[in-house]
Amino acid sequence: MQDKDALATLAWLVEAGADEAAGENPVNRLTAKPVAAAVSPNPVPLAPRAAPMNVASSSGDPIGNAMAVAAAATSLVELKAAMEAFDASALKRTATNTVFADGTAAGRVMFIGEAPGRDEDRIGKPFVGRAGQLLDKMLASIGLDRGRNCYITNVINWRPPDNRDPSPEEAAVCLPFLRRHIELANPGLIVLLGAVAARHVMGNTEGIMKTRGRWMEYRVGNAMVPVMPALHPAYLLRQPAHKRLAWRDLQAVAARMESLGLPEPAVRSN
Ligand code: URA
Repeated sequence: MQDKDALATLAWLVEAGADEAAGENPVNRLTAKPVAAAVSPNPVPLAPRAAPMNVASSSGDPIGNAMAVAAAATSLVELKAAMEAFDASALKRTATNTVFADGTAAGRVMFIGEAPGRDEDRIGKPFVGRAGQLLDKMLASIGLDRGRNCYITNVINWRPPDNRDPSPEEAAVCLPFLRRHIELANPGLIVLLGAVAARHVMGNTEGIMKTRGRWMEYRVGNAMVPVMPALHPAYLLRQPAHKRLAWRDLQAVAARMESLGLPEPAVRSN
């Protein structure tokens, strides 16, 4: 194969979502036998693969571990460090980075998305790809800016391989961290971006098209905090006609922020 063909093939694989090598030696899967086995009587073993996805058997009680580790954190800094050191999540073993959060928790307006994608995994921050660019525009339209007065995280903190949906077990390991994350960030208003966030934070099993735009409440410490399920920006990129619904929901969020004095004045720039 010529270099330019090899490069084109590689670019196509990256475009298709393959972003890591599974072994040290190339395997031609188009031939009947693996290359190594065909040329050597002692097949060269593939590099060790990530541990099996059965989190329960690989670390005893990953959900219990997550609960204990999350409860012990007394600040966002401690929680982030604890999650970076946590080794009982199967997803973490295949992710490049722990994608904890971005923005300014002191603004007390919190956005929760689904899971990191390829760009987020590479950079280690939520919503930095195309959906993130749209989210930034949505935030700006209601006076929010992650660098100044709002805070963004995800339900899942480690990228599921090939952007597949996380399994219920994988999500369950992340949930104690998310609940503690919300407590420590202490938001005065929460926006849930998409069905996955609505399901895991509020237990909504109805579709997001039914629940979006309806105010709900979530307990943070002793306070009941307003929660708005909303359409996910990645969905809006696929269905731009639904941006008008998202705009309506954002207007409701802006009005509620106004009535609650959010974002916190201490971090308002004007
Ligand atoms: N989609 C999400 O839900 N979260 C991200 O961080 C990026 C895309």
